[in-house]
Parts: sequence; C-alpha cells; structure tokens
Amino acid sequence: MAGAEELERAECHLARWQFRQAAEACRAALATDPANSEAEHLLGRIMCEAGQVGFAALMLQRVAVLRPDDATVWVSLGRAQRMAGELPEAVASLGRALELDPELLSAFVEIAEAHLQEREPDSALEVLSAALQRHPETGMAHFALAGALLDAGRVLDARAAFSRAVELDGAMGVRHERLAAWHRGLGRHDEARRMLEAGLALQPGSPELEHLLAAARGVEAGTRAEDAYIVSLFDRFASGFDERLSELQYRTPYQLMELLTPLLGEDPGSLDILDAGCGTGLSAPLWRDRARRLVGVDLSPGMLARAAELQLYDELHEAELAGYLASVPEAFDLIVCADVLVYFGDVSELFAAMAGALRPGGLLGVSAELHAGDGRELRSTGRWAHGHDELARAAEAAGLRLELTEHPLRLENERMVTGLYGVGSRVTPPHHS
Ligand SMILES: C[S@@+](CC[C@H](N)C(=O)[O-])C[C@H]1O[C@@H](n2cnc3c(N)ncnc32)[C@H](O)[C@@H]1O
Repeated sequence: MAGAEELERAECHLARWQFRQAAEACRAALATDPANSEAEHLLGRIMCEAGQVGFAALMLQRVAVLRPDDATVWVSLGRAQRMAGELPEAVASLGRALELDPELLSAFVEIAEAHLQEREPDSALEVLSAALQRHPETGMAHFALAGALLDAGRVLDARAAFSRAVELDGAMGVRHERLAAWHRGLGRHDEARRMLEAGLALQPGSPELEHLLAAARGVEAGTRAEDAYIVSLFDRFASGFDERLSELQYRTPYQLMELLTPLLGEDPGSLDILDAGCGTGLSAPLWRDRARRLVGVDLSPGMLARAAELQLYDELHEAELAGYLASVPEAFDLIVCADVLVYFGDVSELFAAMAGALRPGGLLGVSAELHAGDGRELRSTGRWAHGHDELARAAEAAGLRLELTEHPLRLENERMVTGLYGVGSRVTPPHHS
C-alpha cells in the first residue's frame, strides 16, 4: 500500500514521543495519497499525544465519518475528546467503539478514565470489572483497575491490582514514571506530579518515584541523587542506552575530548585515566590509546556490564563515585566525567574528591547542564542544572582551575539542552589551599 513505509516510520516515532518526526512521516504519506484515511487517523493520534487535543478531536471526527465501522478510530476520537474535557462526547464515541468491537480493551480503559475524570470511581470500577472478565491476563487492565481503586480510596486493593499488573507485564512497573515524563514533556506539570503521587501510593518507597516527586515539587532532598535511584534508573536504561543517546544527538564524550586534547602532551599511552560515572563506556574508545591504565567507575551494575563488553577498560569498579575517589589518592593524570554532575546537586565534595584523586597538575573534564541563573536547580526531569558561579566556586574551593564554556549537551523534547563544560587542572594540593 502507498505510504505504508512512512506510516511504519511514523508509528516508530510516535512510540518514542518524537511527535514532529512522526507528524512529518504521516504528512509525507498524505502528500502521495491525500485520501489515505489510515494516515489521517495516525496523524490525529499523533496530534492528540502531542497535546493538540482540540485539533486532534476535529481531525478524528472527520476520520470517523470516513471509516465509521473502524472501532479503533472511535477509540482514538474518544481519547482526544476525553483529553479535551468533552466527557459526554468521549463516552459516546467510546461506546460506539464497544458496539463495533465488544472486546476492545482500550475502549474500556478510556471509558474508565473518562469516569475518573468526572470523579466517578465507582462507574470506572464497573467498566473495568467488565474489561477484566474479557481480559483477565492483561497487565494494562489490572493497571487501570489499580488507578480506579486508588481514586476510590481502596489503597490496599489498588496495590494488589498493581502487583498483578506488573506480574503480567513488567512494563507496567514503570508506567507512572513514563506517563509523568510524557505530561512533563508537554508542560503539564500538575498532571505529571499527580501521576508520580499515584505511583508512589502504589509503590511506597520506590527510589525513582521519590526522587522524581521531590524534583517535581522543587524540593532538593539531598546533595545528590540517592544511590538506589541511580541504580534503578540506569539498570533499566542500560540495554538501550547507547542507541537512545545517539538519537538524542549526545556527543559529550567527544566534546570533552576536544576540549581536553589541547591541554594534553603528545605522549601516547602514558596516562592513568579515570572515566568517572563511565556508564556503558561511550568515552572508552576515545581515551584507550592515550591510557596506560583506563579505569571506569559507576554505581549501576547494568551499565558496567555493557562497559565490560567493550573490553577497553583495565579496571571497572561498581562504586559510588565520591567514595571511590576518596579511596584512590593522587592516582590519576586525567579524570573525565561526562553527564554525571547532573545527578549531584552540591558538587563541592565531589570536586574535592576529584582533586584528591588527581596527581598535582592532573587534568579534569566535566560536563553539567547549564542553569542560567545563580546557584543550581533540581529540574523536574530529576536532573540538576548548575550555573557558572556554582561550578566555579566549588572548583576553586577544591583547588581546581576550571575553564567553563557552554556547548550543546543532548536533545530533550526535541530541543537542544545547553551544557556547561569545565576543563582544567588541579592547581593546589587539597587541604593546603
Ligand atoms: C547519563 S550517564 C553517563 C554515562 C557516561 N559517562 C556517558 O557519557 O555515556 C550517568 C552515569 O553516571 C552514573 N552515576 C550517577 N551518579 C553516580 C554516583 N554517585 N556514583 C557513581 N556513578 C554514578 C550512572 O549510573 C550512569 O551510568
């Protein structure tokens, strides 16, 4: 079918919330065949997920006229109407979907959501009980039930339903985090916070939800992210990390190498180098030839396992960074630290530990997210951003002379985040300044 390839590409972009590219692929399909109602349906869904719900509802209404017997079109329309706050219209569209296909789980889930939006959790529970009779083994049905039970104040039942959802489908375990990120990307910060609160009510003590909720509330809970948060986040990301970062046009390891190279001597293979927060080892190929000894340290076993596969490090250590640095005084000629300061709020102790682990005159390269104002900020993404003064003060106190410059970091919601890069050297022995 004409445009099939473009539509497949659009679906892939939609699944990754790359709404601009998804819409472009759909429009390319429509350019070759303006009567392609499947492309129009997909474009409507993309507009809806991209937050243009009113426009999406109008577009999907037109598609429903063209394809009145397609239950999935009525679900898409019902979802757009629900999100636009047109609740009676949404319930009618979703009811039509169920008339056409009485088994369609997404229609049940959307109707239940509409009832929850109307603050009618009992009606939502009724709809979901009908859904579960048809789909007793589907994680999404139990996940939706958990949400409705929570809204009805039945917390223990809700936790049991949530556990069952995760048992049946592991992806349900991080669905609150994902939905919160989606809301946040669209600037719907209250909805993102509510999603994290619901997640935490179902999984009390979850390090990821606790950290993200503190960030969403703008509360700096500690001087750095908890170890448990880092491990849970990066163990989860480890398998797709390199591919994802390449999509985000992440080139910080290269950027740091370019900034550090003019400060290094000519001698190849002579340096003891630490890759601090090495992750999957994206920096390793860049530094291997310069290293007499290349050491990686990271908290996440999942990331370290990927780094080990490269067979480029002489040593890999599973350890918290500041603690590890304190255990290796004056051991390194160069420390590279790419995209790790974002998990530290107050970097004073970390910089002091880095200075202590560097030989006198040793070099350091770090990257941070730029905070335009003074000081630092814990962003709703769960990452910290640092201002020039904040990094400069901490570096000076630690006996590090860092030159700070701004360069691109990576894409976030299709916009390039500006990074603050610091390169320089240890100038005074620590504790003697
Ligand atoms: C965004 S990744 C960057 C990885 C790698 N430097 C790169 O450029 O691809 C951040 C890494 O820092 C690690 N990390 C964060 N906080 C840490 C800490 N306190 N101690 C050790 N590793 C930490 C994480 O586990 C993760 O692998």
